[in-house]
This record gives sequence, C-alpha cells and structure tokens, in this order.
Amino acid sequence: MKQKTGYQCTECGASAAKWSGQCADCGAWNTLQETLLSRRETRAARPARAAIEVAADVAMASEPRTATGISELDRVLGGGLVTGSVVLLGGDPGIGKSTLLLQTLASLAASLKTLYLTGEESLQQVTLRAARLELPVERLRLLSETCVEQILETCRADRPQALVIDSIQTLYSESLQSAPGSVSQVRECAAQLVRFAKQSHTALFLVGHVTKEGTLAGPRVLEHMVDTVLYFEGDPGSRFRVIRAVKNRFGTVNELGVFAMGERGLQEVSNPSALFLSQHSQPVSGSAIMVTRHGTRPLLVEAQALVDGSHLGNPRRVTLGLEQNRLSMLLAVLHRHAGIAMYDQDVFVNVVGGVRISETAADLAVLCAVYSSFRDQPLRGQTAIFGEVGLAGEIRPVPFGRERLAEARKHGFTRAILPIANAPRKAPSDVEILAAERLGDVIEAL
Ligand code: TYD
Ligand code: MG
Repeated sequence: MKQKTGYQCTECGASAAKWSGQCADCGAWNTLQETLLSRRETRAARPARAAIEVAADVAMASEPRTATGISELDRVLGGGLVTGSVVLLGGDPGIGKSTLLLQTLASLAASLKTLYLTGEESLQQVTLRAARLELPVERLRLLSETCVEQILETCRADRPQALVIDSIQTLYSESLQSAPGSVSQVRECAAQLVRFAKQSHTALFLVGHVTKEGTLAGPRVLEHMVDTVLYFEGDPGSRFRVIRAVKNRFGTVNELGVFAMGERGLQEVSNPSALFLSQHSQPVSGSAIMVTRHGTRPLLVEAQALVDGSHLGNPRRVTLGLEQNRLSMLLAVLHRHAGIAMYDQDVFVNVVGGVRISETAADLAVLCAVYSSFRDQPLRGQTAIFGEVGLAGEIRPVPFGRERLAEARKHGFTRAILPIANAPRKAPSDVEILAAERLGDVIEAL
C-alpha cells in the first residue's frame, strides 16, 4: 500500500500539502522536505490505552554486553557492545569507518551471527579488503542492497545478532519519493532500522557521513534516535585515528579510543600518551606537558605556545584544540596576578596530536607553555603539569590528581607541578613535586 506523503519545514515544523520553495509559515527558503503523513499499519496495531508502570516493578535485566574483540572500541562503547543497541558511527570519508566495522564484525563473528550490509562498495570490493586485512572471510556474511524494506525482510528471516549498515545515506525507503541521502530518507530508513533492532535485539551499527559543515547528514535527526553516537576523527596527514563518544546511553562520553591506520587496517594503540608527546631531542621553549583525562584514563598531552611581538592594535589569540576564550582569560590572570603583560604580544597555542581539550585541568600547563615561550626559556626537562587556574590567581585542585601523577611517573617524568590540594601526603621518591597554591609560586619556580 502506498503511504501518503506531505511536506514539512525543517526550520519551523509547519506542514504543507504541496512543495514550494519557501515555507508559508516562517518564510525560510528551501526548507520543505518530503515526510510520511500517516503510518497506518502501526496505528492499527496499537492497543487502545498505554499502560503506566512504577519503576520499581520494571524488570531490570543488566544489559548483556559482548566484547567486540577490539578493546579500544569496547572502551568507547562503555565496556562492550550492548545487545539491541544502536550505534551511529560518523566521520569524514576515507577516515576508516568501513575498515573498523569490517574488522569488528569479523571479530564478533566468532561468537555472534553477523551481517555486513554494503550500500557503497560492491561485494567484491569488501571481500578484497577483508582478504587484504587477513580477516577470516569464511565467517563474513555480506549483503549488497539499498532498499530498506528489502533489507528488513531479509533480516527478519535471517535474524543476525549484529548488523552493520554501511552507510545510512545510501539507503532508501519505497514509501518516499526523495533521493537517497535526503533528510527524510535518512530519517525514515534509520527509524525503520532502529525499530527492527529494538524488536529483534539486534546490535546495529549505522555508518553516517559527515557533511561539509561537520554535522552528520540529516541535521542531527539521527543523533537522538540512536543509543550511542561515535565520531571517528583524525588528521588526514597522520595515521592516527581517534574515536570519541559524544552520546552514550550505556556508558560515559569523553572516552577516547585510539587507533593507527596501517598496512593491515586499524591497529589499536593501547598506550596513547606516547603519541601526543612530540619528540624533542633537547628542551625547547614554549612547550609544556599536561596531564589531562579523557573518560576513564589519564593522558599526557603536549601544549605548545608561541608568543611573538604584535603589530596589531588587537593582538591575536589563536588556539588549536583549546577554547580561545579560556586562553584570553588565562592571559588576563597572568597579567593581573603574576605581572606579566601580553597586550602587545600575539599568542598562539596548539595542542599536539589533534586532541581537543575541554577540561580546566589544562590551564596551568597552557600558562606555563605561554610563559616559557615569552621568556624564551625551556621548562626544565621532564616536567608534567596539571591544575586549574582561578580568576583570583589561585591554583585549584582537579579531580583524579593521584591517577594523573601516576601516569606522569609511568612515563618517566621526574618533576610535577600540581595544585597544592592534589599533592600526595607522602612525596614519592622518584618525582620532585612542586605543589602550587598561587600562580605567582609557579612563575617564580619556573
Ligand atoms: P575506509 O574504511 O574505506 O573509510 P570510510 O569507510 O570511512 O570512508 O578507509 C579507507 C582509507 O583507509 C583509505 O584511504 C585507505 C586506508 N587504508 C589503509 O591505509 N590501510 C588499510 O589496510 C585499509 C583497509 C585502508
Ligand atoms: Mg566506507
């Protein structure tokens, strides 16, 4: 049966019977998109009244999790793949989404019935890649199809336990006329697949392409339909890839999984601290090592600063991997509480390795890097730094001080600058601890 379709404005949500270039309600241009008007089969199946339940009576089964065999992926998923969960994997073309999921499915195939749906590449291309990656091809089950109704029909009969859709933008539903990849098609196909996954307890991976603006195509419509949203990122020039959870109903966000793309596909990097430190043969000015935390693990990351005399009335404050306003604020604190003025200096700060730092524990290290560049004096070798800087010039404690210090020791750092409230009661023998109370103390010690 053909379903009725209409048009809906993506800006204001007004509906219209016919397409037009401008929304009659809000006046926005090119925002009318085809949508499904009625969904007769679900309406008929619905019971007359929905039942209200008390939370205490709801049966609580802990979510069964399956290890994917790729521990960096398990980490971002919150400790393995949850049965019946829907995971959206977004990323730029060519970053390695297909490679990662092919490797994951091949590994899962040892314990689960899996199916890899390819809408972009041919079966031959996928098989060739699997063979090159030396994956067990006899266990890989593939399907090449783009009509979502057909796919669901096949899956209902086949009952896979883990299903990969590569990619959601190539699918189309027969009930809509718009082209595959359009917002309404993406939304409709994803909705049907999510419903299937929930009913059949299939673990579902959806691959989604990122648009030029950096959002998943189908402006965020997919993000709230799924349980977990993962982004696969990396510097195109480097072989390292970072996978990050931006939403997870079954675990924490901010976890990082780190991979290196090599000859044999994606390899896990289990000790990523070493990766975000650049190797200098001798100490250089403007470089400071901070101990940040991503999810459940501490990470050593290098902050680099360059301070240079400015000829502009409004000197430049440029940051990469760090919030720019935070830098402006830190420079103001540096002026006010340590007497070091930067109003005639351009300040550039870069976080090495393409990591994005959002926690305030990086403050102190950033200021140390800036100060070191300003004075053109390297910090003494092997110093790890963490601590938040307050507007009153105080160094505030940060969570997980002990773990951060332990990570620095593990990597052979011999000196640590940290907030006084994070200082261990008994100083370890192998690290010289500089417990700072005020920013002035740190600048003096440098
Ligand atoms: P792919 O998984 O096809 O990316 P996506 O699905 O996100 O578009 O990854 C393709 C890139 O990865 C391609 O540029 C080549 C590189 N690559 C390797 O370097 N080594 C490998 O073993 C494989 C399979 C891919
Ligand atoms: Mg691909």
